[in-house]
Amino acid sequence: MPRDKFPWELHNFFKKGSRVVVLTGAGVSAESGMPTFRGEDGLWRNYRAEELATPEAFTRDPKLVWEWYDMRRKIIHGCKPNPGHETIVKMEVYFEDFQLITQNVDGLHRRAGSKNVIELHGNLWRVRCVEEGKIFDFMEVPLKAVPPLCDCGSLIRPDVVWFGEAMPIEPLEAAFTAAEGCDVMVVVGTSGIVQPAALIPILAKQNGAYLVEVNLEPTPFTGLADCSVLGKAGEVLPELWNLIKDQ
Ligand code: OAD
Repeated sequence: MPRDKFPWELHNFFKKGSRVVVLTGAGVSAESGMPTFRGEDGLWRNYRAEELATPEAFTRDPKLVWEWYDMRRKIIHGCKPNPGHETIVKMEVYFEDFQLITQNVDGLHRRAGSKNVIELHGNLWRVRCVEEGKIFDFMEVPLKAVPPLCDCGSLIRPDVVWFGEAMPIEPLEAAFTAAEGCDVMVVVGTSGIVQPAALIPILAKQNGAYLVEVNLEPTPFTGLADCSVLGKAGEVLPELWNLIKDQ
């Protein structure tokens, strides 16, 4: 077991009764085959996510935005949760007080079996009628018509948070409360540059939590972390889990 990858004191923090929070970003789904937002494969028809995931882009060209979501929904539909997602499920079962917070909209955590999930940026398998505000699950893949319409004839949009939009207050407050009250936070596969999600590890650290980071590369959280492991989530998380369960 690669104990040398992790500091010796780590096991002191991962007790069964510890309050544990895991915060994930696109990196946790990368090994399932889902491109990250800011990686080399993050571009689509030369558009960046920031150019498509906005209310302005949707008003200007709902067809283009839905074509992008249709492409992403098709990819996700063909993806399976990976050992990173699966380890997080094991952690939820093991720890008495556990909270998963994700920035991902792909729904892979729930598909893996995670139950206690705060989806900060929404879920792209849910949609919202732009006229009536009605929210409902919409699993059609590939889309039969682009853009898809509500029964009332109005446009529907993915029920996700777009750039320039305020995040719904309820999940954000729940995430901040969990961060302030946790003993350990594990931050996995996020570039840490999108606010307000990027505040979450800082809040945890300020309130005395032990901070573990798992990422392919250094991020703004790396200097703050008590333990930073460079590597793939689908490999490092199972290693971390082996240390936790064997203690
Ligand atoms: P990013 O694409 O910005 O960052 C992905 C991070 O995952 C990077 O730091 C990579 O180094 C890391 N990574 C990639 N593969 C990995 C692997 N196999 N194991 C571990 N780490 C890996 O994605 P997010 O930080 O999630 O917002 O982006 C945050 C938000 O910006 C997203 O939720 C989305 C996006 O625009 C909205 O849609 C509102």
